[in-house]
Amino acid sequence: MKNLVIAIDGPAGAGKSTVAQLVAQKLQYLYIDTGAMYRAVAYLALNSEENFLTAIDNIKLSLTYEDGKTKVFLDDKNITDDIRTPEVTKLVSSVAQEPKVREKLIDIQRDLAKNGKVVMDGRDICTNVLPNADVKIFLTASIKERARRRWLELSQKGYSIEEEKIQEDIAKRDKMDMEREIAPLKQAHDAILLDTTSLSIDEAVAEIIKLCQ
Ligand code: CDP
Repeated sequence: MKNLVIAIDGPAGAGKSTVAQLVAQKLQYLYIDTGAMYRAVAYLALNSEENFLTAIDNIKLSLTYEDGKTKVFLDDKNITDDIRTPEVTKLVSSVAQEPKVREKLIDIQRDLAKNGKVVMDGRDICTNVLPNADVKIFLTASIKERARRRWLELSQKGYSIEEEKIQEDIAKRDKMDMEREIAPLKQAHDAILLDTTSLSIDEAVAEIIKLCQ
């Protein structure tokens, strides 16, 4: 297999990061979670004293990997868990609409992918960040199933939020991501649709590996 670039887009809670991470592990590729980058900027917006649009000029954002898991650092502070809080999740889609934020992060993303051997997931990877990727996938699942998965994930972290509320939040975020002007979430014309509603994680991973061969 040559040094592939694998791009995966899809709506909130479709299992992109879990699946993309496992694909990367299997192929010994680098996994790049672009959602984590937008979340880091949302975290900055919540915690910075100056306007985040000014603050991002000088941010030092880095992703590192330990046991296949991504860790996110902002100016050397480990914010891996802080970017998954409900507050950050609520804010992230409006932060991601800012042209300046997208420009800055897309530069970093393209640079990380330039040597191939990467799996990158997000909302606009196939359509905008890496339109020449070798393998392009649109990963989705029914909204009910996505809400169930997110509920499980949050419950395991000790948050108690009703599944219905999660489903509402996911629907709201999808709407914002799909209706925004710059690089909205949509399936690229040449991306393969993978609906994981009734697939296990391993089955979804196997499908993608098959597409790479
Ligand atoms: O993991 P989850 O599905 O909750 O979302 P995420 O991948 O962490 O992405 C969080 C948010 O970042 C999305 O809802 C988008 O608003 C934004 N995002 C984006 O605009 N473009 C990307 N390439 C990735 C994420």
